[in-house]
Amino acid sequence: MSEETSAVIILFGGSGDLAQRKLYPAMFGLYKRGILAAHFAVIGTARRPWSNAHYRDIVVAAVAGDNDHDQAVAFSEHFYYQSHDVTDAEHYITLKELAATLDAKYQAAGNRLYYMAMAPAFFATIASHLKSEALLTTDGFNRLVIEKPFGHDYASAKELNDSITATFKEAQIFRIDHYLGKEMAQAIMGLRFGNPIIKALWNKDFIQDIQITLAEAVGVEERAGYYETAGALRDMVQNHVMQLVACLTMEEPTELSAAAVHKVKAEAFAALHRYTEEEAAANFVRAQYTQATIAGSDVPGYREEPGVAADSLTDTFVAGRILTDLPDLAGVPIYVRTGKRLTRKSTQVTVTFKPGAAGMFGAQPAAHLTIYIEPTQGITLELNGKQLGATNALVPQNLDFRHDKKAAQAAPEAYERLIGDALHGDQTNFNHWVELAATWRYIDVILAAWAKDDQMPTYAAGTMGPKAAFDLLQRDGHDWFWQPTRIQMAD
Ligand code: BG6
Repeated sequence: MSEETSAVIILFGGSGDLAQRKLYPAMFGLYKRGILAAHFAVIGTARRPWSNAHYRDIVVAAVAGDNDHDQAVAFSEHFYYQSHDVTDAEHYITLKELAATLDAKYQAAGNRLYYMAMAPAFFATIASHLKSEALLTTDGFNRLVIEKPFGHDYASAKELNDSITATFKEAQIFRIDHYLGKEMAQAIMGLRFGNPIIKALWNKDFIQDIQITLAEAVGVEERAGYYETAGALRDMVQNHVMQLVACLTMEEPTELSAAAVHKVKAEAFAALHRYTEEEAAANFVRAQYTQATIAGSDVPGYREEPGVAADSLTDTFVAGRILTDLPDLAGVPIYVRTGKRLTRKSTQVTVTFKPGAAGMFGAQPAAHLTIYIEPTQGITLELNGKQLGATNALVPQNLDFRHDKKAAQAAPEAYERLIGDALHGDQTNFNHWVELAATWRYIDVILAAWAKDDQMPTYAAGTMGPKAAFDLLQRDGHDWFWQPTRIQMAD
């Protein structure tokens, strides 16, 4: 969708790191594509007292490249700053008046996008003031974009949802999971449902297992304050990993609409095989990174990171074995893992197809389909092919596709797609409450199992996690396909 949109965007958290690193560049991308053009204004709010001029300088600094400085300045002229105390009702009146003035100035047609990109403790307060101070317009759209974390367990997520749905209807709420904005995450549907050969094989008769890896090389960085309250299970599994699980297991939607996609996703989440606490403890592994020397530099362990408790029990790594009760894939293990300070940054999915019975060519090894989500973007399908030369032996050969790096960089980045979708009212790639509720319920069982155990296994920074994460697969006679320490095709 590329038509121009009109809106006054009210951004709570306008001075924050997310706004500067992701949201302003994403909006600038939309501006360059003409999706944001003449009829938009952004009101950035935060506590500190900034002038519009200072705010615009910040926006320019966040978005301008070498060749687009003038365009960045023109873009920044649509930005207005409002010092705002989220608990003070008076401030919402000021905000409402400013929004109305800017609406008239830019002819924004009464459309409002409220964007919550600040500490989640304030989400509910903001939503209730938007209602009590009557900020929602009657003559345009009113949409809420809300960042994670959306709760820290089912009960808190429900409480937050109840408070925002007192102001906004589900059809007006756009809960961000930035993984759903990634090119290759969006490509999964087309791969699965646009190829009869893949469709025919996507079931338990042919698939041995599915593996999802979201590996990060960075540590906790400056985010210990948040991360200590979250850990890898809440930070990555409850949202990003689970959304990929749904994309990989859901049935084919009847059409490419938000409603149809959310319907099959809801079914996929409802069909997640629920473990007892004992089963969860046996099927999920957690661990924390410890100090190591990586490429000659000393890397601190998690407990030595600034802001982390010396006896912290926060998980920086999770591996799990997920099952679905969906009939097509029942019994097929879905192995997932994610962690900080792993060997290399890579997000990838591998589907392993069952090996064939030995025949005239001898053993027929399992074939692998790998979807590279980041940093490279593409697909590899491994087939058994005749070895070159005077032999009939079969060896694995790769059909390898990669998006061209430059073209991939020129395509809209995840946040740009998602903000564009929210402006266009397309909820397909956002988290529905039903999905969040189901994933939190699933995660709560694992959290409860872990709460009973104060042992925190460790792994050395720079490795792919603890041995237990490998044992988890070996128990089933399987192995992680992607092992960055093993020589493999480019990934
Ligand atoms: C965020 C997490 O949701 O995703 C971060 O809070 C993590 O801890 C990030 O680093 C990873 O995203 P990406 O796009 O870099 O893989």
